[in-house]
Amino acid sequence: MVEEGGLLKCKICGSVLEKLVQGSEAGKLDDFEELTPKHDGEGSQKHVPILEKDGGNVVIKVGEITHPMEAEHQICFIELIDGDITYRKTLKPGEEPEAVFKVDTDISNLKAREYCNVHGLWES
Ligand SMILES: [Fe+2]
Repeated sequence: MVEEGGLLKCKICGSVLEKLVQGSEAGKLDDFEELTPKHDGEGSQKHVPILEKDGGNVVIKVGEITHPMEAEHQICFIELIDGDITYRKTLKPGEEPEAVFKVDTDISNLKAREYCNVHGLWES
């Protein structure tokens, strides 16, 4: 069973869903699989989010090497997780694969994750 806050991807259409609330029954989730975040390994230089503090903001850039942003291969969203609070920026082709959030929390207490439509979910 996918835990609350877990992400699901449809094996047929590629849609990605977030399970925000745990219901009383599993429902029909046969066509979905849970996305497990990757942290390292092949492709990590283009995918693992990098967090930087900029005054009262947190800047998240995707990868040490800039990731492509074309419809066939792009970063779809970037999230910043500050304890119980999740900030999310959705991205479109042609945009920079980065996000800025007004968050004044120590960077060591934050997590970031992003979803690439080809290479899946990555987290730092
Ligand atoms: Fe990718």
